[in-house]
Amino acid sequence: MNFQKIALAVALAGISLAARADFPEKAVTLLVPFAAGGPSDKIARDVAEALRKPLGQAVIVENTTGAGGTIGTAKVARAVPDGYTLLVHHIGMATAPSLYKDLSYKVPDDFEFLGLINEAPSTLISKPTLAANSFDELRKWINENNDKVNLANAGVGSASHLCGLMLQSALGANMTTVPYKGTAPAMIDLMGGQVDLMCEQATNAVTQIEGKKVKTFGVTSTERLKLPSMAEVPTLAESGLADFNVTVWHGLYAPRGTPPEVLAKLNAALRSALKNPDLIRRQEALGLTIIDDERLAPSGHKKYVIEEMDRWAKVISASGQQPN
Ligand code: MLT
Repeated sequence: MNFQKIALAVALAGISLAARADFPEKAVTLLVPFAAGGPSDKIARDVAEALRKPLGQAVIVENTTGAGGTIGTAKVARAVPDGYTLLVHHIGMATAPSLYKDLSYKVPDDFEFLGLINEAPSTLISKPTLAANSFDELRKWINENNDKVNLANAGVGSASHLCGLMLQSALGANMTTVPYKGTAPAMIDLMGGQVDLMCEQATNAVTQIEGKKVKTFGVTSTERLKLPSMAEVPTLAESGLADFNVTVWHGLYAPRGTPPEVLAKLNAALRSALKNPDLIRRQEALGLTIIDDERLAPSGHKKYVIEEMDRWAKVISASGQQPN
């Protein structure tokens, strides 16, 4: 390299370092790989709002849907790693590698891990007119109708899909699954009676259960929801499906290669956002828990996602589901 080239490289490196020091200088985009109005979208919009102050910039939410969240996730894996395009994703980050043969991205290698955001219990819900009023009656109705039962989900690898897989294997049932681009559009069809059943995170389910727009037959996580309106709803494990546990989490990710200084600023901003009292109040009102442990650190988050990948790989293999 001659002197001029060295001088140019040094100057460019200086500009790039300055740009990192000034990060963020423009709006940051949070990409959600599911439909607007669903659980992932709702948490992303709450976090976007709470990130505005610590980042000092606008934070925009964009939805890129399809294929159980893998299309949007691939888009972020390919984005310029400058901190301006981030991904809000859920357990699908850990399950897609076991469910898709030709995934165009690798987990964890293609991402930087910024921190875990929340844990969301989930519920088993049905159309309001379903001819069952308890889990035992539902079980009987499923046995009688088997493949005529329509089970909605947000695509292969989504939380609703995984919960549905586990439900079918626990009941020995073989329902007809109906994929949507997110559980927001699926919820509209469930309330209208076009589909029969769905597992849905408390984020989106509690309001509809309270408004009697859907029926509920159980909580899919290990504990009942800590909300007065849901206190009488048992867990599926209490109703006889031993060890049934689908608890959804959401995290924040950047493309691999995002500079460490930018990642440190984003993690600090996320920590500050998750202390925002409005965000905490909105999440708790829906039975969700904001994370405040080692999983909010990039290394702890990455370790947890790798553990979840192992755990779900075993569950998926036991369910007999073949990769797409
Ligand atoms: C899911 O089932 O994975 C979610 O509900 C996705 C979504 O946010 O729509």
